[in-house]
Amino acid sequence: MQLITFASFKGGAGKTTAVMAVTSALSHKGKKVALIDTDENMPLLEWRENAIKADTWSDDIAVYEADDLRSFEQAFEASENRGFDFGIIDTRGGGSELNNACVINTNLVIIPSALTQLDMTQALVTFEHVIGLHQTMEIEIPVALLIQRVPVGKLTVSQKQDLTSLSELPCCDTQLHNRDAFASLGKRGLLSRVLDQMRSDPLKRISANHMATALEEAHALTGDLMEALEGV
Ligand SMILES: Nc1ncnc2c1ncn2[C@@H]1O[C@H](COP(=O)(O)OP(=O)(O)OP(=O)(O)O)[C@@H](O)[C@H]1O
Ligand SMILES: [Mg+2]
Repeated sequence: MQLITFASFKGGAGKTTAVMAVTSALSHKGKKVALIDTDENMPLLEWRENAIKADTWSDDIAVYEADDLRSFEQAFEASENRGFDFGIIDTRGGGSELNNACVINTNLVIIPSALTQLDMTQALVTFEHVIGLHQTMEIEIPVALLIQRVPVGKLTVSQKQDLTSLSELPCCDTQLHNRDAFASLGKRGLLSRVLDQMRSDPLKRISANHMATALEEAHALTGDLMEALEGV
């Protein structure tokens, strides 16, 4: 099982949304995914519940709660024993022993950041913290930024400058754009299942295009992550 951890000191950086997008793409490709939810608010458990109600879930995805080190270890062991292809860890914002354990016991760390000064500063602090931990432990794990919530239209001059300065750090090639399809994921379920439902409803066929674009973006990002994992 390959593990991918989404982390950031800043709350609301777009971790959980990116986890839901990548999980949607992996599941669409027929992969089995174990989600390890270390956020005490349990957004992924809620996602699963909402999706089951909407009939947009897949039994190939499991969600484990892990809000302390012991339950994290148990979740990891259980998902490895059950033969999942990927384990995806959604951390809570901020620094903690548990977050440190997550970014050490993984194959890839992704740090989301929006194009705002606050997000970028916090992403840089998180990046340095994670790299520092890896150096102390003498382990080599790839770490990359994910630029999140990029406006769909034209970027302002300062957003372009922000993009240039962020790209000095290792970044995923794919950026997630600010889309309603991503914002509504938590309520609606797996992207591909929501898309199938919309396509079968004549009244929703046009808005289904937005969902299809978001799914393509999720697949492109997942492709970047697979490439990063292959280099491990
Ligand atoms: N690409 C996107 N397009 C539109 N909305 C987004 C996108 N990414 C995140 N959001 C919205 O931004 C808000 C914060 O995102 P999210 O919950 O994913 O962040 P987080 O890093 O998991 O936050 P926390 O630290 O609280 O766990 C949510 O309302 C979410 O719907
Ligand atoms: Mg979250």
